Amino acid sequence: MDHVNTILKLLLDEAKTVSERSYSPYSGRKEGVIVLLEDGSMVPGVRVENASFQLTIPPLLNVITTLYALQRKDLSAIVSSVAFTEAELAYTSALSGYNWELVAQNVLMVAGAHVSDPTKMLTVTSTTELPTAEQGVIMARNAASFAFIPESNFPVGCAIKTESGDIVTAANIEHTDWSQIICAERNALSTAISYGLSETIELYVSCPKLVGGTPCGSCRQVIVELAPRATVWMDSGNAQPIAMNATELLPGHFTGDVLKRV
Ligand code: THU
Repeated sequence: MDHVNTILKLLLDEAKTVSERSYSPYSGRKEGVIVLLEDGSMVPGVRVENASFQLTIPPLLNVITTLYALQRKDLSAIVSSVAFTEAELAYTSALSGYNWELVAQNVLMVAGAHVSDPTKMLTVTSTTELPTAEQGVIMARNAASFAFIPESNFPVGCAIKTESGDIVTAANIEHTDWSQIICAERNALSTAISYGLSETIELYVSCPKLVGGTPCGSCRQVIVELAPRATVWMDSGNAQPIAMNATELLPGHFTGDVLKRV
């Protein structure tokens, strides 16, 4: 148990470190979680606020949707920089396949899971080749196969490219509680923030079941705030991808600048 406590302490330190990456200009609340996987790799999740407060992604939802899009189910522990809320505990117990033990107000462990010594953050980025628009859209289309969509059976994939050339892909992740569903675009953007990546400058989206599918209103609001300079490329099947600037997708958008405290 002593050894496990040492591991949990290390994870808490990591959670506090990554919490600094939070995008919290409205509340100033810096919050982070670290998931330890059974192979010892770690995955971060941070708080990502939005001018439309309702669209804020809390750290736990952020990291769980990152993990689902990676199809990693081998969770061993989650350590948060702040105490889990009742809602978060209800959320985790609704995730199927895990028997959680709340061992401290900010520590959840999966009963029976193997607890490895933490090694490094799981790599989610690829930088190998910077995609053309067509390649970016194909990356998004491929990412849609990682969608977790028990509610809609409607897969969506997203790929983003940051200013420094990192590429992150993600898919939509559904929950029984529809208000918690995270679209592919928001999943990709919030994963990039958890990993402390630079600003997103290209975003590719693909709805394989709907040629020419475009980002929903919630995603447009989040894209315009987190990636205001981005070009958004939409999969049009065999035709050329359609490009629009983030700001064109949401003309006259609410910036929330007046609300910012920090
Ligand atoms: N969805 C996305 O992932 N992105 C969008 O921009 C549109 C909607 C997802 C959310 C939900 O899982 C499913 O598609 C149906 O709305």
